[in-house]
Amino acid sequence: MQLLQTFSVLLASVWVAAAQSSVDQYITRMTPISKRGILANIGPNGANARNAQPGVVIASPDNDPDYRFFWTRDAALTYKALTEQFTSGEDTTLRPLIDDFARSTARFQALNTPSGSAASLESLGEPKFKMDISPFTEPWGRPQRDGPPLRATAIIGYANYLISTGNQTYVANTLWPIIKKDLDYTARFWNNTGFDLWEEVSSSSYFTTAAQHRALREGVTLAKALGQTAVVADYEKQAANTLCFMQSYWNPAGYVTANTGGGRSGKDANTILASIHTFDVSAGCDAKTLQPCSDKALSNLFQYVNAFRTAYALNSGIPANQAVATGRYTEDVYYGGNPWYLTTLAVAEQLYDALIVWKRQGSLQVTATSLPFFRTFSSGVTAGSYASNTATFTTLTTAVKTFADGFVSVVEKYTPANGALAEQYSRSNGTPLSATDLTWSYASALTAFAARDGYIPSSWGAAGLAVPATCERNTGGGGGNTVAVTFRAQATTVFGENIFITGSVNELQNWSPEAAVALSAASYPTWTVTVNLPANTRVEYKYIRKNNGVVTWESDPNRVLTTPASGTFTQNDSWR
Ligand code: NOJ
Ligand code: NOJ
Repeated sequence: MQLLQTFSVLLASVWVAAAQSSVDQYITRMTPISKRGILANIGPNGANARNAQPGVVIASPDNDPDYRFFWTRDAALTYKALTEQFTSGEDTTLRPLIDDFARSTARFQALNTPSGSAASLESLGEPKFKMDISPFTEPWGRPQRDGPPLRATAIIGYANYLISTGNQTYVANTLWPIIKKDLDYTARFWNNTGFDLWEEVSSSSYFTTAAQHRALREGVTLAKALGQTAVVADYEKQAANTLCFMQSYWNPAGYVTANTGGGRSGKDANTILASIHTFDVSAGCDAKTLQPCSDKALSNLFQYVNAFRTAYALNSGIPANQAVATGRYTEDVYYGGNPWYLTTLAVAEQLYDALIVWKRQGSLQVTATSLPFFRTFSSGVTAGSYASNTATFTTLTTAVKTFADGFVSVVEKYTPANGALAEQYSRSNGTPLSATDLTWSYASALTAFAARDGYIPSSWGAAGLAVPATCERNTGGGGGNTVAVTFRAQATTVFGENIFITGSVNELQNWSPEAAVALSAASYPTWTVTVNLPANTRVEYKYIRKNNGVVTWESDPNRVLTTPASGTFTQNDSWR
């Protein structure tokens, strides 16, 4: 018996060693493949992006779905990863490519887009551009308000490095104007709704709010370093407001609700991505900013992961303390609603980040909130603080490391022989699906691997923050006042057809055809609706027809009105 036990302990440790070395081998193999996968999708030298302008990152070379576009979120997150490689000295050759990104950003920041005019800054919420940096003008889930803060964060990382190496002039003259536009936009519009990172739900979204908060905080620090004091008070105030708003997404059932709209469970990779992309080691395990090791973030991760245990056939039979394939959210149907490489890797990354902090601070805290998470690994554990010389610390951190590696192993298992990372892998058999060679999948591999290696990204100011006692909610554009605007549109319609309005502001559903505001046919053929719009604001809009789900837009250009400072206003139009 004794012998048998010793033998099985030995077997188990051999097995653990084998599993770990397989993850190590996978990482060694995938690191250069991922890097090449990213560079191949950046114009004009990337093999898949010859027709793209310098600094343009295509989301994927695939034409079905057609991802040959410059998506601002994918590009910013990718450039954040590249910038970290550059500033940490891991790859000193990346500088020209990073300069290209700043230049390409400046180019599209100057354009009017379907999200609005450049003068009003609303254009900056545009989610994607063509690879020649011209606007994409077809219907889309717009605006998406995470692009500007994510871009600001990527470029600020570069700016801080340049300042530290004595190149303040380039930062002040070239980078700051680019960063400032995105931060001004963020400070002004953070409280307006927009589409989430998955481009589906128009509401407020945790990932977006968290990205906005981070960018404003590091924007304040950079502004001060550059002597740009005029913006500081506003950015500071809106940063405090976003931090306040972030707290409201917490569901006492133990997770962060991804979106204020959408009608889903709210368990979503959105919040895992928010945690890893706002990791700041100096904030320890603070839950206010959902730091990776905070009790709320761990509980959230636990519930998010568990939601997928029964969602996919691929996960059946996997024990509750082991990693599974995860996707965007369990209700997903996009391209079959499968697991995604980047979401599965994000879970691993959050856990690796947590391990970095626990090791650094030499202790680990278990609270009532994080207890269910920790109990999966050690059923007898109780709430308390465990110093690094305790057995509990060793047991829990070892288990968390194994759990984290498990997510990399899942990805490894469903990576094809050539190492190509698509967007999704099949929920039934793990074969790659949807867009091929997704830039973001490769970037997520690099950042997860770096976290496993102990890489600590630069702090952005998450330490020691206080949540204001009352949350203020500005709405961009109108300074708070609204005006009742009555739209009267002459339109003859066929039976079953109805008229709606959508446009460039929150109150007109931000150009969403799905969420467009219905007009009443009570005075047919005049269709009417009264909407409270921000005062003193230039608003673009169009009427649309909907018939059994088929949407017909009015012809271009967009209609424009500027709301008065107060009172009411009537707008007479006829269908065009
Ligand atoms: C395209 C978006 O990229 C994707 O995220 C979304 O699920 C589909 N449109 C459906 O709305
Ligand atoms: C669909 C994803 O939902 C969205 O987040 C991404 O930006 C685009 N595809 C492009 O990769």
